Amino acid sequence: MTQSDIEVQSERLESTNIHAADAGEPVEDELSGPLLIEQLEGNGVTSSDIKKLKAEGFHTIESIAYTPRRQLMTVKGISEAKADKIANEAAKVVPLGFTTASEFHSRRSELICLTTGSKQLDTLLGGGIETGSITEVFGEFRTGKSQLCHTLAVTCQLPIDMGGGEGKCLYIDTEGTFRPNRLVSIAERYGLNANDCLDNVAYARAYNAEHQLNLLHLAAQMMSESRFSVLIVDSIMSLYRTDYAGRAELSARQTHVAKFMRTLQRLADEFGIAVVITNQVVAQVDGMSGMYNPDPKKPIGGNIIAHSSTTRLSFKKGRAETRICKIYDSPCLPESECVFAIYEDGIGDPKVEDDD
Ligand SMILES: Nc1ncnc2c1ncn2[C@@H]1O[C@H](COP(=O)(O)OP(=O)(O)OP(=O)(O)O)[C@@H](O)[C@H]1O
Ligand SMILES: [Mg+2]
Repeated sequence: MTQSDIEVQSERLESTNIHAADAGEPVEDELSGPLLIEQLEGNGVTSSDIKKLKAEGFHTIESIAYTPRRQLMTVKGISEAKADKIANEAAKVVPLGFTTASEFHSRRSELICLTTGSKQLDTLLGGGIETGSITEVFGEFRTGKSQLCHTLAVTCQLPIDMGGGEGKCLYIDTEGTFRPNRLVSIAERYGLNANDCLDNVAYARAYNAEHQLNLLHLAAQMMSESRFSVLIVDSIMSLYRTDYAGRAELSARQTHVAKFMRTLQRLADEFGIAVVITNQVVAQVDGMSGMYNPDPKKPIGGNIIAHSSTTRLSFKKGRAETRICKIYDSPCLPESECVFAIYEDGIGDPKVEDDD
């Protein structure tokens, strides 16, 4: 998400509300930021078609354009011919072709990153947590994964010049470890009103893997109604581990995980939000890896999680409140690491005496 996207998106959300009231002409905006699905109406696409699509979690024209046609056909009440019609209309407004690398470069240089609260960690990440893609944080218990999520739930609301994304946070908690009082301490650090800050976090506890996926459909609707800048899933695999036990269910589990990750990526593309997921680790028992690797722990979820997370960060425990973050996989960052710390007011840089 870039600064201009945010402006366009905010304007668009406002203008749709106005149009809903006075039923005026839809505005022709620039082609950035999500386009609400209502704007597809006409040219053979009826309001009842739009209603059917919304019922299945499609709220923006981007969501249609990025979805394979055969999946559109599975929407209740949408025929094959209708799916073609809808996809063609969407392709007319959402750019799906090539662009030059220089144009892409200039868009990326404007890309908004959310601050983690630690300057060193932000620097390691090339500015912070990137919007428009999925960042996975994995590590053992107590390494600060959930603490980072809490900090981001606040910093995502900050103005852009303070390292924020000027948007709300959507928080999916699968382990029951979300603590609003942590947000209050972090909000105070940044001079934000604690109540407003809490109001800007949409929280849901997920109780099973199916529910976890259904929450994303609700998320899409909420994101089309107001501006969000981050979606957090803490943690991604824990419900799968309990819902799908044993080897026999592994393939069904991975199919479902893949669907979940695809939906997350779609939300990141559609709304330009940062997606942050946390993950657990298991001891790596295969072969002789332990002989060369002093800490043979690997994130769970297999290839599906590995390939669908854009940036993968490994957290380890350091001395006292300090923690170590290592870049495990990234399309543009080298394998390097840094030290950060966990405090009452969120993630920060280690105090000088912790540095040695
Ligand atoms: N208010 C606080 N002030 C300072 N440190 C805190 C505070 N609350 C929690 N911590 C520290 O954060 C650590 C827990 O981190 P966190 O909950 O992020 O772990 P996690 O990586 O999510 O672990 P798990 O895998 O169990 O979910 C604890 O070691 C604790 O010392
Ligand atoms: Mg946790």
